[in-house]
Amino acid sequence: QIEQKVDALLKKMTLKEKIGQLNQLKGNYSTDIYEQNIDLNEAIKRGEVGALTPYTNLDQMKKWQQLAVDSSRLGIPMLYGADVIHGYRTIFPAPIGQASSWDMEKIQNAERIAAVEATAAGLMWNFTPMLDIARDPRWGRVMEGGGEDPYLVSQIARARVRGIQGDDLSKPNTMMATAKHFAAYGRAEGGQEYNSTEVSERTLREIYLPPFKAAQEEGIACMMNGFNAINGIPATANEFLLKQVLRKEWQFKGFMVSDANSIYELIPHGYAADKKEAAYKAFTAGSDTDLWANVYMEYLPELVEEGYIDEKDVDASVRKILTYKYKMGLFDHPYQYFNKKRFKKEIFTKAHQQASLELAEESMVLLKNENHTLPITKKTKKIALMGPLVNSREFKDLIGNWTGFSKPEDAIMLDQGFNDVKAKDQEIIFSQACEAWGNCPDALMDEAVEIAKKSDFIVLALGEQGYNSGECGSRADITLPGNQEELIERIAALNKPFAVLVMAGRPLVLTSVIDKIPAVLYCWQPGTMAGEAIANLVFGKKSPSAKLPMTLPYALGQVPIYYNKLSSGRPKLDPTDKRWGLNSWSDVPNEPLFAFGHGLTYSEFEYGPLKVNKTTFGPDDTLEVSCTVKNTGNYDTDEITQLYIRDIAASVARPVKELKGFQRFSLKKGEQKEVKFTLTLDDLKYWNDKMNFDVEDGTFKIMVGPASDNVQEVTVELKGYKSSFSKNVQ
Ligand code: IFM
Repeated sequence: QIEQKVDALLKKMTLKEKIGQLNQLKGNYSTDIYEQNIDLNEAIKRGEVGALTPYTNLDQMKKWQQLAVDSSRLGIPMLYGADVIHGYRTIFPAPIGQASSWDMEKIQNAERIAAVEATAAGLMWNFTPMLDIARDPRWGRVMEGGGEDPYLVSQIARARVRGIQGDDLSKPNTMMATAKHFAAYGRAEGGQEYNSTEVSERTLREIYLPPFKAAQEEGIACMMNGFNAINGIPATANEFLLKQVLRKEWQFKGFMVSDANSIYELIPHGYAADKKEAAYKAFTAGSDTDLWANVYMEYLPELVEEGYIDEKDVDASVRKILTYKYKMGLFDHPYQYFNKKRFKKEIFTKAHQQASLELAEESMVLLKNENHTLPITKKTKKIALMGPLVNSREFKDLIGNWTGFSKPEDAIMLDQGFNDVKAKDQEIIFSQACEAWGNCPDALMDEAVEIAKKSDFIVLALGEQGYNSGECGSRADITLPGNQEELIERIAALNKPFAVLVMAGRPLVLTSVIDKIPAVLYCWQPGTMAGEAIANLVFGKKSPSAKLPMTLPYALGQVPIYYNKLSSGRPKLDPTDKRWGLNSWSDVPNEPLFAFGHGLTYSEFEYGPLKVNKTTFGPDDTLEVSCTVKNTGNYDTDEITQLYIRDIAASVARPVKELKGFQRFSLKKGEQKEVKFTLTLDDLKYWNDKMNFDVEDGTFKIMVGPASDNVQEVTVELKGYKSSFSKNVQ
């Protein structure tokens, strides 16, 4: 039925009106490099604006929509889309923090809440989730993603799409999601923002594409191009990605939006001589809509009239947009998102704040905790809380980047959280110790040290500013900024118990100070409830339970560093092996400071022996893998058990470990559980020497444990499978 309506409407449309549907502009929103010299009201009336990024209030949004519906010839409503990356006004932990929870239910719920709030504020299209795999922590956008692993990020992709789009896009509290940035943007060379990427087809398909495929399988409405050139061709005009992979192989039926201005940027990329050629190359490669460059509106009409582009292809792109406008019920209810009652009632509710708090508590990784330094017990009376991030609203340091609709004053700062959570007879003494950017002038640092001397326990709140990561937030030096390390050293010299809270949008290199710190809680950017969530963990109301979704390097020179590397022909299997000629660094270890999947709790877990139901299995068999996990410590908490595989010999070299399953579960102290995983043939498949997704008979290692560097293993044999690989010696 929608199809017929779309066809009927298309028949009435002029070429310009059609192209208008592919044009997306900004509503009174200005940034440094985007210019938009257009009379927006007049363009809407001419039917030349299919979508807007509004950044304004409901009244203005409604007025623009009224112009489209009442004053344009065909009355086609506009879509309102924007970045709601980790919450609208109730801010959840930054996505990299959410990923650290490995809790798909809570991540889905966070997106549901974000969608409820965003749609109550007039938005119907979210430019999230960012599904870029990132192996380079210098890249600023690490904070927006789920880390380095394609399996974990694929699960997250599914959860986020379900949360944002709900079960029915026509409901006024669901919105379209956008998987971005297609593709391999996270591989930006040197981690530098907007940089190019070089990636083999196998790595592209195995590492960078799976999360997008997962989003597509969940029915995502939209995907967004990356700004990057990939193997020399900008993603915005990359036919291989947009036509071959997305449309032909995956049969993606949603629409492809450019990144902001990225169609115009084909010119500085050196891929188009002028705007007309940029429009031509992006459109014919498969980018359906133009975000903020206005070049489709300017040049597609003449490109069609001159015969470079077939109007039928324009129709095909317009059809996708109109289909979603119908699916969302916009033609029948163009004003359903501008509901003031909902705006007042459904945003920043207590329930939403509680959900943010719970996810924040699950998102912070306890990297180290010597002699149970944390939690602070009731016996400790005088606590110094110091550092640049104790009370820092200005740069959104605690709630994080990409929170354009949040109010800094909503966030609970650490001083407030600590005061609320501490016992009555405990005293908290605050000191800023450093200025913004982590510079600690002598006087401030001296004062902090004096306070520390008089305290029983010191908590340092250190890290990056909120704007040190996110778009255009790449850093070449990823140690603690300013002289925060010096502050750590001076506090360590006091020989008092202390803990460091690290707030950051990326893994930092903490190597030069890590041995001096008894306890480190890696908080990422925790969101609105930061202060309360951190205090709950620090005072032991809850145990930390998160695990790293991205490796923390030992040295910057190790980057890119990731657990699922290939072996090398000269692997260094024993870190203490000093022989010449092994795959190693001569000055730093091969191992990271903290491995993917690492994270402690206040309790301890004992893993029983690893079992499999069969050690030889055929193509139709299911492999059942299990082991008991017992909480042997003194806290009720959650554990995250991870399953990895390794294909020992294959048609192409395979990674030393690949995550293929994980489970997060609660265990009370003393309790134990049998953790079970199932694997089938499909879980073993990979892109083989002929670029077929397949597997061969042979030996596989199955590994299970609490972290990628702490696993038990068994060996199993796949037999009797006929693969597309021809060079097996049986
Ligand atoms: O959605 C974003 C994208 O991730 C980066 N460039 C700007 C877009 C719109 O804000």
